[in-house]
Amino acid sequence: MNLLSFMMLYLARHPQKVAELRDDPVKLQRSAEEMFRRFPVVSDARMVTRDMEFHGVEMKQGELILLPTALHGLDDKANTCPWDLDFGRKKMAHSTFGQGPHRCAGMHLARMEVIVTLQEWLRAIPEFRLAPDAKPTYQAGIIAAVEGVPLEWTPA
Ligand code: HEM
Repeated sequence: MNLLSFMMLYLARHPQKVAELRDDPVKLQRSAEEMFRRFPVVSDARMVTRDMEFHGVEMKQGELILLPTALHGLDDKANTCPWDLDFGRKKMAHSTFGQGPHRCAGMHLARMEVIVTLQEWLRAIPEFRLAPDAKPTYQAGIIAAVEGVPLEWTPA
């Protein structure tokens, strides 16, 4: 839900990106991964189980650490022009679904949800925009959120 909110807000503000998806069903399918890279909503949390040093950082047993997955996919050392939504991106790296043994068990379902949402939305809705009086508000946390994303369009 939160990823879809970020995605729809972006698309409402970038109609040329929507046009790319309307024109090319294959590009639409491939766009899902770029959506996950660009809108990484989850931060992993961990408790340190023993005193240790990790890449020069001292960590003590019992400390809580937050690992924002955004730091990977939006790092310009990992992806060129990381803030751009580029459906033709050749090389891509992100950790939106985490890494290691706890990597998201639902990532394939999540990908399918993005693709089907885009397919069905674009089939039913003509060019759309953010309502002029909209004031989206952002919330940080373990799951980032954006609320207040009213969309408008002119019925065909
Ligand atoms: C935008 C969609 C999603 C994102 C960004 C996402 C992200 C993540 C991340 C980062 C983790 C790792 C958490 C950690 O290491 O502490 C995770 C774990 C998990 N996710 Fe997702 N997820 C998404 C959708 C889903 C869906 C749709 C399902 C199931 C229907 C799901 C089920 C799970 C489960 C069961 C785990 C725990 C795996 C484990 O601990 O072994 N996720 N997810």
